[in-house]
Amino acid sequence: MEVIEEVRQLRAQLLRWNKEYYQNDEPSVPDSEYDRTLNRLRALEEQYPDVFDPSSPTQRVGAAPLSTFGSVEHRLPMLSLDNAFNEDDLHHFHRRVCDRLKRQTMAYCCEPKLDGIAVSIVWEQGRLQQAATRGDGRSGEDITQNVRTIDSVPLVLSGADYPDILEVRGEIFMPRAGFETLNARARSSGEKTFVNPRNAAAGSLRQLDSRITARRPLDFCAYGLGHRESKSTLPDEHSAVMMQLGRWGIPISTLSEVVLDAAGCEDYFARLSTKRDGLPFDIDGIVFKVDSRTDQTQLGFVSRAPRWAIARKFPAQEETTTVRSVEFQVGRTGAITPVARLDPVFVGGVTVSNATLHNADEIDRLRLKVGDTVIVRRAGDVIPQIVAVVADKRPADAQAIAFPSCCPACGSAVERDPGEAVWRCLAGLVCPAQRMASLRHFVSRKAMDVEGLGEKVIEQLVERDLVKDVADIYHLDASTLESLERMGPKSAANLLQAIDSSKSSTLARFIYALGIREVGEATARQLAAHFNTLDALACATEDRLLAVNDVGAVVADHIRYFFDQAANQRTIQRLIDLGVRWPAPQKVAEGAVLAGQTWVVTGKLDGMTRDEAESALRALGANVASSVSSKTTCLLAGAGAGSKRTKAESLGIAIIDEARFDKQRKTWETA
Ligand code: IVH
Repeated sequence: MEVIEEVRQLRAQLLRWNKEYYQNDEPSVPDSEYDRTLNRLRALEEQYPDVFDPSSPTQRVGAAPLSTFGSVEHRLPMLSLDNAFNEDDLHHFHRRVCDRLKRQTMAYCCEPKLDGIAVSIVWEQGRLQQAATRGDGRSGEDITQNVRTIDSVPLVLSGADYPDILEVRGEIFMPRAGFETLNARARSSGEKTFVNPRNAAAGSLRQLDSRITARRPLDFCAYGLGHRESKSTLPDEHSAVMMQLGRWGIPISTLSEVVLDAAGCEDYFARLSTKRDGLPFDIDGIVFKVDSRTDQTQLGFVSRAPRWAIARKFPAQEETTTVRSVEFQVGRTGAITPVARLDPVFVGGVTVSNATLHNADEIDRLRLKVGDTVIVRRAGDVIPQIVAVVADKRPADAQAIAFPSCCPACGSAVERDPGEAVWRCLAGLVCPAQRMASLRHFVSRKAMDVEGLGEKVIEQLVERDLVKDVADIYHLDASTLESLERMGPKSAANLLQAIDSSKSSTLARFIYALGIREVGEATARQLAAHFNTLDALACATEDRLLAVNDVGAVVADHIRYFFDQAANQRTIQRLIDLGVRWPAPQKVAEGAVLAGQTWVVTGKLDGMTRDEAESALRALGANVASSVSSKTTCLLAGAGAGSKRTKAESLGIAIIDEARFDKQRKTWETA
């Protein structure tokens, strides 16, 4: 093969593998093969200097680890920002700016304050030359070899007319999705987890071996200029300079906006506050900057912060509190989950008094004891987590936590599958906790939807052995229900009515209600659409299950196992005998516009709920899946779409927004 062709293929191969590893978290080759391919490319590039390309994958990762980081003097100091803690502070800032410049009104550029690590990156003649941490503001550490590994940082600038020397300041951060994946990997291999995305980013940049940094999902966003040497000039507005950096291929924020006066800043702050939870990365506030760089120069600096910018902080997403006790909950599938009861604390916008501890390993890893002061984190709608113990605040009487050696609800044996972190009670529906949890699931709104069958009633039904298996609810009669606490004849009659109505269901709801492990609402819908009848699903082989969207080997295994159990077969038969039924799913009309396509809906839509959008898509013949994969045809992305959007982008899958979808839908529906 011609050298040029081989080099081209090796580069394409490596780029594809990088993507699989960093973005999709699905590496398809072992590290050894990756290394072999990279070494081969390196050898060819050395042997044939003509094929050298500054953007080659070999240029991102250095071959040998460093023994220490060098030091870099910043040619212009790296400053920090003053904080505004409320609206008043912001108004004072605006007044001071206007007074100093003798102006009535002022344009500000508003930018999210990314929660990462400040860095300076220098491009000389368009080639990435040096990257350094902020350090003490005057000099920092040389982290060039690590920054080179960050995919979004261009090794070579695009376009032309960039300055001979261009220093850009910005933030290196780890997007939330990548952070979750990294921690999940660490958790499953028993390694230390990171406290938050910021620490993970800092830890990743501190590696002397850039091959480790290369495997961390880091990203970069520019927010300003440093030193430059240039024959041509840059625009006067900071916002326009940022756009220019964008044209040279340097990542900039897509959320920044130019507004007028303190009122414009407040409005932006309010709008971004509502978006904060849905963003794919952590931000800890908003930075407001006088947009005119001439004005910035005139305003100057005080000590270590500019007079022309201010940061307005958001409420914290991490707080400290005390662990009062640890309880062990038994779920529907017998999984035993430790839950920490906390002194209530306001964090991430809500009061938190419980945090999941995941499993026994997590307690060990945190070295948690009852009485400990802990850092609790809640970002977005993620379940609150204990991320670390504050070791030096441990009281003398802190209690060790003993993981139960038998089921806390029924006393049966507990076991864990090899390679699994979760302990399970093996008693199945004999265990009252599992029975309660499966009944709760069976009657829930998205399953059989029995209105009025609340927690208190479920508890009594299970404790008095009135419901041993979910089918028993269809045997309940008025006098039994009236014998329950706080249940009069009227509510008993209503409940009976609701139980009766729930019999008329859909195949998808019924499959979901069965509570098969790992089969959520979306997967249940896929299964119903794919198999059309319960019988077809119940006897589907593993291979046929794997052909369904959303179904991988683990899920297929759980489904097969569930339908192979005689007890489950009996329950299903009883439910059907007692009158549970569903209409035969409608076959999508031949030639439906979206037949054969698989769609995913994400983010917040304005004109409809996500459920409505999904129904509309199904009515047009599309399959609707819950996660983006190579099988996805198109992603409908609403506001705040995060990891699904990123994944779709990386897989090159079509993305449409709500406005375009609305328009298209009208055409499709009249087609
Ligand atoms: S401007 C002279 N803009 O916040 C102006 N900083 O508290 C200096 N940061 O060290 C910074 N996002 O690491 C600026 N859009 C943004 C920012 C931002 C995050 C960080 C930066 C800085 C710290 C100051």
